[in-house]
Amino acid sequence: MGSDLAPDMRVELFGRTFKTPVWPASGCFGYGREFAGVLDLADLGAICVKGTSSEPWAGNPGTRVVETPGGMLNAIGLQNPGVDHFLTVDWPWLQEQGATVIVNIVGRTVEEYVDVARRLEGSGVAALELNISCPNVKEGGMAFGTTCRGAAEVTAAVRRATTLPLIVKLSPNVTDIVEIARAVEGAGADGLSVINTLLGMSIDIRRRRPHLGNVFGGLSGPAVKPIALRMVWQVAGAVQIPVIGIGGIMTGEDAVEFLMAGASAVQVGTACFVNPRAPLTVAEEMARFMADHGYRRVADLIGAARPKGEAGARGNAGARGNAGARGNAGARGNAGARGGAGPGAGATGPGGVTNGPAVGGASAGSGSHRGSGHPSAAPAARRPSGEAAESLRQFLKDADRA
Ligand SMILES: Cc1cc2nc3c(=O)[nH]c(=O)nc-3n(C[C@H](O)[C@H](O)[C@H](O)COP(=O)(O)O)c2cc1C
Repeated sequence: MGSDLAPDMRVELFGRTFKTPVWPASGCFGYGREFAGVLDLADLGAICVKGTSSEPWAGNPGTRVVETPGGMLNAIGLQNPGVDHFLTVDWPWLQEQGATVIVNIVGRTVEEYVDVARRLEGSGVAALELNISCPNVKEGGMAFGTTCRGAAEVTAAVRRATTLPLIVKLSPNVTDIVEIARAVEGAGADGLSVINTLLGMSIDIRRRRPHLGNVFGGLSGPAVKPIALRMVWQVAGAVQIPVIGIGGIMTGEDAVEFLMAGASAVQVGTACFVNPRAPLTVAEEMARFMADHGYRRVADLIGAARPKGEAGARGNAGARGNAGARGNAGARGNAGARGGAGPGAGATGPGGVTNGPAVGGASAGSGSHRGSGHPSAAPAARRPSGEAAESLRQFLKDADRA
């Protein structure tokens, strides 16, 4: 099966059209500045900026990132310059770049979340992403996201404070993510991001102490993908609002898996540290997969792996906020036309750290199952996983020194 027509990569969510369903994840793309030299921010479906609080936050002391097999642990502690800085410095610049921006918001108390939401009201940002799932801060963050009551309380309060689309980012560090998802949906969320990082740790056995200054950190990268995918599947089958899939997405085929599980869009996090162009690369690879397999529109992928007729399955897209995507039939996609410039070797990663040679779409944990059963699925330009792992290792070393 194949098609000469470039697939339409646009998605209609929360009452607006996003160029692609592949967006950089919060905390892995800063406020976009470090990436502007290697890609055009206007080409991205959206940018989820760093968790932003009502006042500047300093973040955690000590070592904040460490590599793990197939991933990384971080304990940044939500360092950010605060919402005023965002509104006066970053947002005007992002608008000049033509970027579509989703602001990830954080707080220690419900009042702090509400304050950030109020200050962003009327700013023109595309949506708010409520981070109730950061595992490495002592107050706020995941504390709200691990009980139905806490999650619903902060969601309802922010819902009352904003007319912006409200996406709530769920924590995987819970017994039953479905009950939290339902509570948040009931409290007025317009969408759910699934998942934030998994709580983990690692120990420096030579120094006989935990690597991270915070002891615990959030695990991300290819190692978490099967867990994230399982949770997206569960949540998408249980709620009516759109689900945005996150966790270990390194390639276009990873992204397709999340859409087939029921996600309406995806975010790419850790992959940005390996390849600063990863969100574009993933979208391009996804478009290639769609063209090779005869998928004309993103909506055709959503829930495609689910039992027919079930919530979250293909065909229910309208109920999930994707109605507009159906109207795009026949329109030519733009993702396939992008590309050109190769991966941004020598580009700076978030925090201004110079990356090693960037690697397109490779993952230390890429599964050998990919592409099986689809003879025409030409493996996307994937570099050897060792190279990706080395690049990530170098980034983490540099980040540690910074
Ligand atoms: C260094 C780092 C910083 C992060 N900061 C945030 C943040 O500020 N807010 C948030 O909601 N998620 C944050 N995350 C979580 C990511 O957005 C994403 O949910 C997670 O890393 C899983 O996706 P991945 O495996 O593609 O990285 C951060 C992740 C990393 C690795």
